[in-house]
Amino acid sequence: MRKAVDDEGVHAIVLPFLGHKEGPASLALELASAPLSPGLATRIRSVLGAAGRFDAALDKVLRSSTDGHAVGLPPYRASYVEALSAEVRKSGNPTKGAKVYASAGLSCVACHKLGQEGGVLGPELSAVGAGVPVELLIEAVLWPRRQIKEGYSATTLTTKAGRVISGYVQREDQQQIVIRDAATGKTQVIPVRQVAQRQDAGTLMPPGLTAGLLRSDLRDLIRFLADQKGSGPRP
Ligand code: HEC
Repeated sequence: MRKAVDDEGVHAIVLPFLGHKEGPASLALELASAPLSPGLATRIRSVLGAAGRFDAALDKVLRSSTDGHAVGLPPYRASYVEALSAEVRKSGNPTKGAKVYASAGLSCVACHKLGQEGGVLGPELSAVGAGVPVELLIEAVLWPRRQIKEGYSATTLTTKAGRVISGYVQREDQQQIVIRDAATGKTQVIPVRQVAQRQDAGTLMPPGLTAGLLRSDLRDLIRFLADQKGSGPRP
């Protein structure tokens, strides 16, 4: 794992861990056993982020190698949102924000379409600034679980064999559940009798994606989103 420095190598190693019940815990254990370079931590974060996975133990290991000046993930506070909104309006730089948005470590592009590019796990953001005020943009990015946009509620299935599939249920009947696995992008047909546990997973957007950013980067990112009014600048 520590030798697999390119994105694809890391992706290939991390993905199987996500498909198993005990996977995230064993990955966290393995990563905690030796110091982790910030570059590798970022790549792993990006794979987890794009797969819509959040695991507290993994998050802790990965975060310990990020910059001490980073914003982290503060608990939700209206006063925090207010202060950041004021900064966004006053000095947010959308051009710099576009670069932050497009950076691989954040994986925004993996899930959101903006302009011509991006994935489909999350809603399109091309006009998000026209419909969503700055305060709510901040909430949506920092604490996605507080308010989940309608139609974007995911499901996690654990099979009796310990497989884990997390994604959107496409259809189901009494025999089977057809689900699109967010981690692999593949549609899976799971017989109902093999399902050990079914959980409402809420939003696939992981919390804390922006935890490694500097305050100025976070401010610029939000400003960039706020400026997306359907015909604004593209990344
Ligand atoms: C794993 C997929 C995934 C990733 C990665 C992801 N998002 Fe999301 N995002 C979603 C989903 C799903 C929703 C809709 C459900 C919800 O409200 O959280 C969403 C909602 C949003 C919204 C609210 C949109 C609206 O119309 O209300 C914003 C803004 C947003 N994301 C920005 C970002 C940014 C910025 C990043 C990168 C830092 C990012 N997202 C990364 C999946 C993702």
